[in-house]
Amino acid sequence: MNGTMLTRAGPLHATALSAIHARAFSEDECWEERIIAGQLSQPGVFGFLDIRGGMILARLAADEAEVLTVAVVPERRQQGLGGSLVTAAAEEARRHGATTLFLEVSTRNPAARGLYQRLGFVQVGRRRGYYADGSDALTLSKALTHTVRA
Ligand SMILES: CC(C)(COP(=O)(O)OP(=O)(O)OC[C@H]1O[C@@H](n2cnc3c(N)ncnc32)[C@H](O)[C@@H]1OP(=O)(O)O)[C@@H](O)C(=O)NCCC(=O)NCCS
Repeated sequence: MNGTMLTRAGPLHATALSAIHARAFSEDECWEERIIAGQLSQPGVFGFLDIRGGMILARLAADEAEVLTVAVVPERRQQGLGGSLVTAAAEEARRHGATTLFLEVSTRNPAARGLYQRLGFVQVGRRRGYYADGSDALTLSKALTHTVRA
């Protein structure tokens, strides 16, 4: 369903990804095209583009993965795009052997916190005053379940 709208993103998608990011974040928080292209050139970094107006970048390192950023344009929010992007990243990380997916979210971001809670993330840490606005970052994690074969 939603999955069919997702494209695995490479550096050549950086223009589209940064355009979406700029619509979702404030000017001082958004990532330029060259930053996103640079991220996608790093080992272990992968991303997805939702052509309706969503993007996610994540990084895989050994058996852990982390969401670097996720963004949905304002007019497409609360239609499931964010959830399908995080789920796709979790599935990709799981396929590559990750057992845990981490991310950080501001205490002042109720929309993202609500989404992550719905997806089963739990709080595992807090970084006080981490963001430019003085808010704390909550570190959340989700176990990625693997099928055990006999
Ligand atoms: C966070 C973000 C990616 C969510 O994208 P989305 O497409 O709206 O996500 P979904 O539609 O899959 O899920 C939305 C869920 O978020 C939660 N949510 C949304 N707005 C909320 C609010 N104001 N208060 C509490 N929960 C809220 C709900 O759980 C909601 O589910 P529901 O629609 O079933 O009630 C999007 O809001 C966004 O791009 N925000 C700006 C960038 C950002 O903050 N990124 C995350 C940084 S950690």
